[in-house]
Amino acid sequence: MTEAVHYFLDPNSARAVIIGLLYLAGAIGFVLSLKWMSDAKTARKGIFAGEMGFLLAVIGTLIMPGITSTGYIYIAIALLIGAAIGVPLGLLVPMTAMPQRIALSHAFGALAAGLVGIVEFFNYTPQISGFVMAVLGIEIVLGCLVFTGSLMAAGKLQEILPQRPFVYPGQIFVNFGVLGVAVGFIVALVINPGLTWAIPIIIVCGLVFGVFLIIPIGGADMPTVIALLNAYAGISAALLGFVLSNNLLIVAGALDGMSGLILAIVMCRAMNRSFSNVLFGAFGQLEEATGEHGEMGSIRTASYDEAGDILKNSRLVVIVPGYGMAVAQAQHKVRELADTLAAEGVEVKYAIHPVAGRMPGHMNVLLAEAQVPYDQLLDMEEINPEFPQVDVVLVLGANDVVNPSARHMKSSPIYGMPILDVDKAACVMVVKRSMRPGFAGVENELFFNEKTLMVFGDAKDVMGELITEVSGNRDSINV
Ligand code: TAP
Repeated sequence: MTEAVHYFLDPNSARAVIIGLLYLAGAIGFVLSLKWMSDAKTARKGIFAGEMGFLLAVIGTLIMPGITSTGYIYIAIALLIGAAIGVPLGLLVPMTAMPQRIALSHAFGALAAGLVGIVEFFNYTPQISGFVMAVLGIEIVLGCLVFTGSLMAAGKLQEILPQRPFVYPGQIFVNFGVLGVAVGFIVALVINPGLTWAIPIIIVCGLVFGVFLIIPIGGADMPTVIALLNAYAGISAALLGFVLSNNLLIVAGALDGMSGLILAIVMCRAMNRSFSNVLFGAFGQLEEATGEHGEMGSIRTASYDEAGDILKNSRLVVIVPGYGMAVAQAQHKVRELADTLAAEGVEVKYAIHPVAGRMPGHMNVLLAEAQVPYDQLLDMEEINPEFPQVDVVLVLGANDVVNPSARHMKSSPIYGMPILDVDKAACVMVVKRSMRPGFAGVENELFFNEKTLMVFGDAKDVMGELITEVSGNRDSINV
């Protein structure tokens, strides 16, 4: 592609063939990984295929010519530092903090891509063709903006930074102005690749744009934005693959970029939001602005023994897990309650909303960890027609995903989001600690429905109490 960027690798040499085969096998590993990870039954196999793909890619890269013995020492040190950070992160970060953990991975992946691009530029300028310069420039901007954007997103999710969106008049023009300056200097470099002073300006614009991009977006939209940043990081890696003439990087970057984009689209659809609404909608401010959710009436509460009695005397119970189940780590107790109910002859199913929790598949992962049989988990489309026949819905730390106002309250930030139609069941029990709203910050009219019973408490504690009530142990203790 360019005479300026090469690895001294004779394409007819045995080494080139081996590297090519390793990269091909690595790429197959990545494709199979994505395919298998789309189903919980094959997900573990998918993770393994992805890991093998990476291993082959690393081996292929390590046997590239041109790496000196000092180079291998640097690589070994980098691997040790990476492992020293990555292993504890993998073991210690809780599932509830997974979105910010993923954002950090993107940040450092993008930083690496950006740095390699910068090094390539300074190694080969001014002998860089116009095409490669354009690709390199875009790659550096993407790498820099994903780095700061992902750090900001992680900070907002971890609540180190304020979650609220920060907006001001003319913000879009300022943001795109910064991006415009970067694009202008990339064009200047395409015309004259010798303008080395332009690169620091492009880097600063990319870094600043990443910060500006996230400032107007509320914490509630961060998981979607992280998927989008993932897509940018993938595109950046694919572009770098073109610059380095590295086929595997092109394939892996394209897979990463497209899967991130598809994920962001799926999440937007599940929340009935558009990309522009996510990026510029300042979600999370609307509630206070409209202030329409005044007094909704009174609520009814149930004690643990009342709730246990109702559950025990039901025929079909549907459990709706949400973010609160994840916070309380109540999944094992949920499984125990379901087993106890099944022993009493009650049929139990689980209704899974696509954006319940804080990341795609959040509930599926937790319930799978608790060995809940996969065929008991039903998607929203499958379970919604069944709700009119359901005796009791047990809403466990879920809120927005069961809020009926999403159907009709046009001013609500969750208006139009498809919800689980739990209000169509004969009885709804809501387990949560207080009347506080969920992620979107809106009042939930379900709690004031005459069919609803509020069972206040921590999800795990309440599950423990209900198990005792349903199994009849409390009676035997009391007698
Ligand atoms: P939320 O609407 O966030 O509600 C969770 C509820 O759990 C809260 O009302 C909270 O009430 C309760 N809770 C918290 N800790 C608890 C504990 N220890 N025990 C019992 N209850 C507890 O959750 P959801 O229904 O799962 O909805 C998810 C929200 O996140 C949606 O708005 C969705 O759009 C958004 N979101 C999701 C994703 C993905 S991909 N999943 C991505 C972006 C945004 P108390 O404080 O009163 O206990």
